Amino acid sequence: MDPMTIRVGVIGTGNIGTAHARSLAREVSGSSVVAVFDVARERAEEVASDIGARVLPTAQAVIEADNVDAVVIASPDHLHAEQALAGLAAGKPMMLEKPLAPTLEQAREVMDAEVAVGKRLIMLGFMRRFDPGYMAMKRSLTDGAVGEALVVHNVHRNAYAPYGLDSALSLTNSAVHEVDINRWLLGEDYSWVQVLSGKPGPDVPAGQQDPLLITFRTTSGVLVTIEMFMTARYGYEVTCQVVGSDGILDMGDGTFVTRTTSRLRGQDIPELWLGRFGEAYRSELQAWIDSIRGESGPVGASTWDGYAAAVSSLAAIDALTSNEAVGIELPHRPALYI
Ligand SMILES: NC(=O)c1ccc[n+]([C@@H]2O[C@H](COP(=O)([O-])OP(=O)(O)OC[C@H]3O[C@@H](n4cnc5c(N)ncnc54)[C@H](O)[C@@H]3O)[C@@H](O)[C@H]2O)c1
Repeated sequence: MDPMTIRVGVIGTGNIGTAHARSLAREVSGSSVVAVFDVARERAEEVASDIGARVLPTAQAVIEADNVDAVVIASPDHLHAEQALAGLAAGKPMMLEKPLAPTLEQAREVMDAEVAVGKRLIMLGFMRRFDPGYMAMKRSLTDGAVGEALVVHNVHRNAYAPYGLDSALSLTNSAVHEVDINRWLLGEDYSWVQVLSGKPGPDVPAGQQDPLLITFRTTSGVLVTIEMFMTARYGYEVTCQVVGSDGILDMGDGTFVTRTTSRLRGQDIPELWLGRFGEAYRSELQAWIDSIRGESGPVGASTWDGYAAAVSSLAAIDALTSNEAVGIELPHRPALYI
């Protein structure tokens, strides 16, 4: 093995952990996967035998293994903080799936621990920052191609809620992607959020709300709208349109092909995010491995970005429950993230 190969351990081999493990083993250059762990042992064994990795008995064993240089954490949301803290204690670079943590206290604890280490070891899994569509949009915005952004309209629809429909989870687990990508596109934070719920779709259990209409206002006054529809049935779809002072940017869906058959023209819609964002996941992992190999500084979303996303999406939960606009204020940004 090339001595510069980054040997990765993967914690959580569900949907996304398995995809990351396979990608790191087969598509990404400069990496191999040497260890995996999942509480569902058979799932871990299946992935391990597919890519030639070992199954270790605990997440801690993966983090501490001498032959593991870097760790992917793809376990359920509520375990991210605990496992990230263990990774920071071991001084290992991590690709931590979003969200940073489901509570502000946990998110803050991870950020404080990384600041205490004094080194950016965590890249948050906000992979849309690596999607060719969003990247092109960011370039156009930076070049001033449509003047100043005034409004951004986002649509985020899932065929079904992957972890069961829970409106709070729609905000902290799913809409958190828009929370991050719009912050990144616009280069500013939010000052305010409002969330409206209306007529529920047919697959919405009692007591939950879906779809949701979320509006953020940024510190300079840009309005960001998000239609978040977790039970849209027809497929997975994400769109983004920037209304500028001098034109409009629409994110093209470069991944879709228009197919014409007998008297019908149309496009396949993916069932899940892996279909739409495959290239973004791969480039995200490649950039992460390259940065660990010393080919670049830290890349992707930082723990600070994860913290800002947590503050903003948790404020959206308050806005949903109170039916009122809720102010958003971030603490002082630690020097590590400037
Ligand atoms: N960036 C993205 O677009 C994206 C997409 C999908 C999921 N995710 C995130 O990735 C995480 C996993 O999501 P998923 O869709 O793969 O879920 P999943 O349910 O398919 O997989 C989670 C896996 O974690 C395992 N697990 C449970 N407890 C564990 C523990 N203590 N230690 C290790 N593994 C444990 C489960 O057995 C399961 O195999 C979530 O936090 C989710 O938010 C991000």
